[in-house]
Amino acid sequence: MIHQVGIIGAGTMGSGIAQVAATAGCEVILCDLNQTVLDASKEKLEQVLSRLVVKGRIDADEKARIQGLIKYSTDIKDLSDANLVIEAIVESLEVKTKVFQQLEPLVGPDCIIATNTSSLSVAAIAASLVHPERCLGIHFFNPAPLMKLVEVIPAVQTDQKNTDLIVQTIKDWGKVVALAKDTPGFIVNRVARPFYGEALRILEEGIADVPTIDWALKTKGGFRMGPFELMDFIGNDVNYTVTETVFRAFYYDPRYKPSFTQKRLSEAGYLGRKSGRGYYNYTEGAQNPEATADDALGTLIFNRVLVMLINEAADALYLNIAKAEDIDLAMTKGVNYPKGLLAWADEFGIANCVAALDALYDTYREDRYRTSPILRKMAEANQTFF
Ligand code: NAI
Repeated sequence: MIHQVGIIGAGTMGSGIAQVAATAGCEVILCDLNQTVLDASKEKLEQVLSRLVVKGRIDADEKARIQGLIKYSTDIKDLSDANLVIEAIVESLEVKTKVFQQLEPLVGPDCIIATNTSSLSVAAIAASLVHPERCLGIHFFNPAPLMKLVEVIPAVQTDQKNTDLIVQTIKDWGKVVALAKDTPGFIVNRVARPFYGEALRILEEGIADVPTIDWALKTKGGFRMGPFELMDFIGNDVNYTVTETVFRAFYYDPRYKPSFTQKRLSEAGYLGRKSGRGYYNYTEGAQNPEATADDALGTLIFNRVLVMLINEAADALYLNIAKAEDIDLAMTKGVNYPKGLLAWADEFGIANCVAALDALYDTYREDRYRTSPILRKMAEANQTFF
């Protein structure tokens, strides 16, 4: 039973995870090197909880209870009684392994040590410990208190009983768990790549402009944001880096190839909303071009992006990255897709997906458009995912 949770790193993710654990009733010690960061985290929590009180979601007692459960510290030694420590510091293998080596001698033998990494190998992080079997990935999504999904990633070294305990704990915290294999991007950051990559490719080919592609995915597909709006929201620097990391980690598989268009925007400082300019101009009074609301063009764009997403999801299942249910949960609960991609494949028709992917392959003769063997086999056998 996990009752005391240590969190290292009080930035965006660490602060959010602390709120989740304390809301569920755990004692939390939030640790950061920097006192200013801790003060800011405490102040942010005060604001967030006050807003929840105003909205009537929690009362003043509940707010005080949550705040009372979180202690703030600049000394890692204060984590010595924790049953679970989650690290949410800078995304660097070198820094993470140093912190884990510092932490391990301080905690008890049964303490589980977890990483919130988005892109590093959990096995490589676990290998820095004397007891790597106590380590696994617990990947929250931003903002952690709002996003329902948590990917749990056992490394090759992880003891199954630790995975079981964490899966139960995270469910008790009110989250939806998707179990994922320790491979680049886990589920969400792998399966979502074509949403950005194929949209960029359509733009680069001159098939449609930015607002039209966004319009197509929103109106035809029911996505809350178009790919370009979403890249501007995430930040073109951040989104480009994730794509490049996944591309490298997959030994340069062309399916994950990053785009020069996004690289140039990032280099130009057109990072999106945070810099006032990205694919769109966010400065006050700026005029952005209108979408061309052409039905046939919209359908073509949406179908192309959708079948590429389905191909990626199907391939993740084919390679045993996760179960079909977890792949669909990951995309609906981690990135708010309107439907799970495998359920969408059933609806669209597996044979139709194969035909659309084969048509793309015939046109481009690029490995990027290769159809996952599982889709072809299922189409031949007239099977569905669910
Ligand atoms: P952040 O930059 O907001 O926070 C990191 C914090 O760690 C900083 O406050 C820093 O002072 C602190 N820190 C650095 N070294 C430390 C040390 N040795 N001891 C104690 N504190 C230390 O970063 P963010 O965005 O919260 O990301 C943290 C981790 O979570 C990264 O691994 C990231 O890849 C991952 N992640 C980030 C998501 C996001 O959307 N921001 C989503 C999911 C995972």
